[in-house]
Amino acid sequence: MNRAPDSDHSGGLGRRQFLKGVGTLAGASCLPANASAANETAPQEKNVLEHPVSLNVRINGKEISREIDARTTLLDLLRETLQLTGTKKGCDHGACGACTVHVNGKRVLSCLTLAATLEGAEVTTIEGVSQNEELHPLQEAFLRCDAYQCGYCTPGQIMSGIACIGEGHADKSAEEAREWMSGNLCRCSAYPNILAAVRQTAGAEPESDPAAHVRTFSLAEASSQEQ
Ligand code: FES
Ligand code: FES
Repeated sequence: MNRAPDSDHSGGLGRRQFLKGVGTLAGASCLPANASAANETAPQEKNVLEHPVSLNVRINGKEISREIDARTTLLDLLRETLQLTGTKKGCDHGACGACTVHVNGKRVLSCLTLAATLEGAEVTTIEGVSQNEELHPLQEAFLRCDAYQCGYCTPGQIMSGIACIGEGHADKSAEEAREWMSGNLCRCSAYPNILAAVRQTAGAEPESDPAAHVRTFSLAEASSQEQ
C-alpha cells in the first residue's frame, strides 16, 4: 500500500508538514513573550527563600550555619541541602521511622522536625555514628546478624537501636526491646534479626531462636482487634 506523501510534490506543503508546522507555532504562541528571559532567571528565583531564618546547628560534630526557609524539615535539610543522604525518607509522615536521627542524644523523626527549631542543637545522623572509620558496635551486629535485606530502613533502625540501648530498653526482655523498636517499620520483615542485633549489642542473653519471637496473630486475635 502506498503511504500518504509528505508533500504533494507540487511545490506546496504536505499534510504532515503542515500539521507539524501548525503544532509548533501553536505551542510557541502559548509561551509568554518573555519565556526565554524567565528561563534564564529561574535558577536564581529558586534560591530565594520565602521565609528565611538563620540556623546554627552542630551536625555530626561539625558546626553548620545556614539561611534556611522556616518550613524546611530536618530531613530535607540533611538530604537536600547537606547531602547527608544516609537518613532515608520513607513515608514523610511520621509513620515508618526511616528518617530517625538523634537530636541532643534523643531519637527524633526528622521528617516531623522543623530544622528552624534546632538552633544550637547537636544532631547525629547515621553518617556520624562510626568513629575513626570504625563501625559502631550496632552496625557490626547488623552485619553479623544479617539484620537487613533491601537496607532502606536500616539507618533508621540503627539510630533507633542505639537510642533504645542507651535508654535501657534493649537488654531486659525481647518483649520490651520489640516494643521500644516498634516505631521503625521494615517492609522486608527483617524484625527477628534486627531485634537480635539490638539485644546482642545491649549485652542481652542470645535469643535461642529469634524467629520464634516474631509477633504473630491468630485469625481470632486479629479479628478481635478489628472490633
Ligand atoms: S519518613 Fe519520617 S517517619 Fe517515615
Ligand atoms: S531491610 Fe528492607 S525495609 Fe527493612
